[in-house]
Amino acid sequence: MRIIVEEDYQSMSKKAALLVAGQVLLKADTVLGLATGSTPLGMYKELVRMYQEGEVDFSAVKTFNLDEYYLLPPDDLQSYHYFMQENFFKHINIRAENIHLPDGMAADIEEECMQYEKAIEASGGIDLQVLGIGENGHIGFNEPAESLNVYTGLVNLTEETIKVNSRFFSSMEEVPQKALTVGMGTILKARRIILLASGEKKAKAIRDTVCGQVTTQVPSSFLQLHPDVTLILDQAAASLIVD
Ligand code: F6R
Repeated sequence: MRIIVEEDYQSMSKKAALLVAGQVLLKADTVLGLATGSTPLGMYKELVRMYQEGEVDFSAVKTFNLDEYYLLPPDDLQSYHYFMQENFFKHINIRAENIHLPDGMAADIEEECMQYEKAIEASGGIDLQVLGIGENGHIGFNEPAESLNVYTGLVNLTEETIKVNSRFFSSMEEVPQKALTVGMGTILKARRIILLASGEKKAKAIRDTVCGQVTTQVPSSFLQLHPDVTLILDQAAASLIVD
């Protein structure tokens, strides 16, 4: 595991954007695995700036997002479809047909999850997976549990995650309790993984990711088993790592 500690959120975001852009420069038809949430916002903003200044070209890039809320339509302001359009896709030259997110409205969810896995495979697999991390160590929406899903599937969100996510909804009742998420096996099949974390709220999860036991109770700890993982942290998120 490589660990890069940056001064603050802004330099963390720039470093992450450079790594993503570097990957796209090396392989124009890169397949990116993407995350939503507060953490990668700065990275997306920097990638948009780099695109606008002609430093990176997304015309051949394919993307697969990690997750989407169950039963939230794509035009809902809190859906991850909407988030990705607003914060990234509509500002760059990616082709609509190259964008993939799980469909939380699909009539047959099992079939949807199977097709999502097939589409990842048909694209040649994820070259670079971008991850955030939950305060409880979840990656994607693979929550701490007795066992973890290998493939994309429908999962129940933990109470803790529902509470954390409620900051974006006007009432607790509106917060989705389920989501479709790419499974742990599929995440770990990515050729390279970068995980971004910022702020002291993430410090414990980062400590457990780096120095803890590999356990399904901390899904991110499985990253210890992957040969090419880079954590990009700000100082607060890195503050509990012990040598
Ligand atoms: C979102 C995702 C989640 C988030 C995590 C952290 O696509 O996969 O695992 O990365 O919940 O969210 P933020 O960045 O909002 O703290």
